[in-house]
Amino acid sequence: MDRIRIRGGRSLSGTIPISGAKNAALPLMATALLTDGPLTLTNAPDLADVVTMSGLLSQHGLTVDHDRKARTITLSGAANNLEAPYDLVRKMRASVLVLGPLVARFGRARVSLPGGCAIGTRPVDLHLQALEQMGATIEITAGYIEATAPDGLKGARVIFPQVSVGATENILMAATLAQGTTEIVNAAREPEITDLAACLMRLGARIEGIGTDRLIVEGVTSLGPAVHPIIPDRIEAGTYACAAAITGGQVLLGGARLDHLGAVVRILRDAGVDVAETEGGLKVSRLNGLRGTDVMTEPFPGFATDMQAQFMALMCVAEGAAMITETIFENRFMHVPELTRMGARINFHGHSAIVRGVSRLSGAPVMATDLRASVSLILAGLAAQGETIVNRVYHLDRGYERVEEKLAAIGADIERLPG
Ligand code: UD1
Repeated sequence: MDRIRIRGGRSLSGTIPISGAKNAALPLMATALLTDGPLTLTNAPDLADVVTMSGLLSQHGLTVDHDRKARTITLSGAANNLEAPYDLVRKMRASVLVLGPLVARFGRARVSLPGGCAIGTRPVDLHLQALEQMGATIEITAGYIEATAPDGLKGARVIFPQVSVGATENILMAATLAQGTTEIVNAAREPEITDLAACLMRLGARIEGIGTDRLIVEGVTSLGPAVHPIIPDRIEAGTYACAAAITGGQVLLGGARLDHLGAVVRILRDAGVDVAETEGGLKVSRLNGLRGTDVMTEPFPGFATDMQAQFMALMCVAEGAAMITETIFENRFMHVPELTRMGARINFHGHSAIVRGVSRLSGAPVMATDLRASVSLILAGLAAQGETIVNRVYHLDRGYERVEEKLAAIGADIERLPG
C-alpha cells in the first residue's frame, strides 16, 4: 500500500489549483439516474470516490464516460438494474444517494444499507422516513433497503428533525419527479446542495428556495439533458489554507470561493491567518504567530466537520489553547492519538478536545482511519521537524487529487512511496 513521506519545516509559496468538489460530484452523478441524459459534468475531480460512483452507476446500466484530461464526466442512458450491491455501498456511503432517484423514476430500488464507518454509526433513517412520507414502502431485508412506490412518489411536507446533507440531497432529487409539491423543511444549506439544485434546474426541475433551509420542489414528469460545471472543493481549499498557515507560507488557492467557506474563514482569521479574495481565488498567508482559537463544528454556514481535523493540526502549533468541539459525528477524533505521537498536546473527552500548542511537532510514522484525519497528519508533517510517513494513503486518494504533487509544486518536501 502506498505511503507518503514528508520532511517538514519548509514554508509553502505559490498557487494550488483547487479541483472540483468531491461532495458535489457524487450527488451530481446520481442525478443522471433521473434522466436519459446526457448529463455532462465539467470540472470533474479525478478521485477514487468518483471512480466508485462511476462503477456503481455503470452497474445500474448507465453509460459513464470519464474524460480525465478534459475533466468531464458524461452520463447517459436509463438504469436497467435497480440494485446497489453491498460491495460498492460498503466502500462509499454516498452510494445511498442512488436510492431517491431510482425510486422516483422507476418506482423501485434495492440498495444495501451502508453500515457504520470510522467516524460514527451514520444511520440513514432520515432518508428512509422522508421517502415513506412521499409514499414509498420501505422494508429492510438481508441488509438491504427495499423501497417500492409502484404508482410513483407523491409530494409531501418533509420536516427533517436534524440537518442532514445526504438526506436533503436524496429527497431533493426524488422530489423532482414526484407528483405534486414537496416542501423540505430544515434542509441542509451546504454549497453542494445549492450546486445540486442548480444542476437539477438545468435538467428541467422546478425548485424554489435554493440556498435556504426550505426547499420547495414542484414535480415534473421527466427531466432532459444538461451540461453543468462542478463547484470548486471548499474542503480541499480549506485544507490547503491550513497548509499555508501551518508552514507560515503564502498560497493562492486557484478558483476557491470565499462564500463557500462559511465560518472557516472567520475562524482562520481569528487564529491569525490572512485570507483575502482575489481575482484568481483566495490568497492565504500567515506572517505572524498562530493563536489558539476555539471552534465548534456545525452545519453550513457553520464550521465544517470536514475541516475539524485539519484545524486541529493547525492548533497543535498555535500559541495558547484551543477547545475543539465536534457536534456532527460522534467518533471524529481518530487523528488525536496520531497527532499526539508527533508531539501534540491534546486531551479529549466526549465531543471536545483541548489542544495546547507546542512550539514544534516532531515527525513520526502515523496512520489514520478516515480521509480528513489522514490529511491532518500531512499538515502536521509539513510543520514537523524531521520525517513523517503517513500510512494508508488510500483514504487520501478518495478525496484529494494528487495531494503530494500539489504540495510539492509549492515547495513542500513530500513524495509518494509506492507500496
Ligand atoms: C456529508 C458529507 C460528509 C460531511 C457530512 C457533514 C458527502 C458525500 N459527505 O455526509 O463529508 O462530513 O455531510 O457535513 O457529501 N444522520 C442521521 N440519520 C440520517 C442521516 C444523517 O442520524 O438518516 C446523522 C449523521 O449520523 C450525522 C449527521 O446526521 O451525525 C449529519 O450527517 P449528514 O449531513 O447526513 O452527512 P452525510 O450526508 O453522510
